[in-house]
Amino acid sequence: MNKVALTLHVNGKSHDLLVEPRKLLSDVLREDCRLTGTHVGCEHGICGACTVLVDGRPVRACLSFAVQMAGHEITTIEAVAQDGRLSSVQQALHEEHGLQCGFCTPGIVMTFEAFLKENPNPSEEQIRDALSGNLCRCTGYHNIVAAIKKAATQMQGSAGHVAL
Ligand code: FES
Ligand code: FES
Repeated sequence: MNKVALTLHVNGKSHDLLVEPRKLLSDVLREDCRLTGTHVGCEHGICGACTVLVDGRPVRACLSFAVQMAGHEITTIEAVAQDGRLSSVQQALHEEHGLQCGFCTPGIVMTFEAFLKENPNPSEEQIRDALSGNLCRCTGYHNIVAAIKKAATQMQGSAGHVAL
């Protein structure tokens, strides 16, 4: 299939690429942009492992063609920690043991980076509802929920990042 020119804006940088129009955003991020923090699990929109932000909103990268993303700003897990500081969501997942193998974790982080901006003081029910779009085979979810509660509390008193 013929390739087309595409400029993809990812984490504040422009990537000038030649991609097949059928190529998924998840594959372009991983293979063409070399940003392998975005994981690919089910490849059909179920597991949430591939979640990235497009213009600040969570999107399944495995359900999007990269060519649809021209003119949009994509944020991946690689840009969440800033200046050596984990985000509050990342730090809380670490402290509350909200991950085991970590395969689901980038998607969960991206989901809740966006969620907590929209819902700074969520109930447990709201957290569990938001988490229903991200599958985790390891943790049983309890510690993830505890981590999101902790992150929400911390973010209310900070800029959302903690020093390493
Ligand atoms: S890999 Fe995209 S939702 Fe599972
Ligand atoms: S920590 Fe292993 S899938 Fe979630």
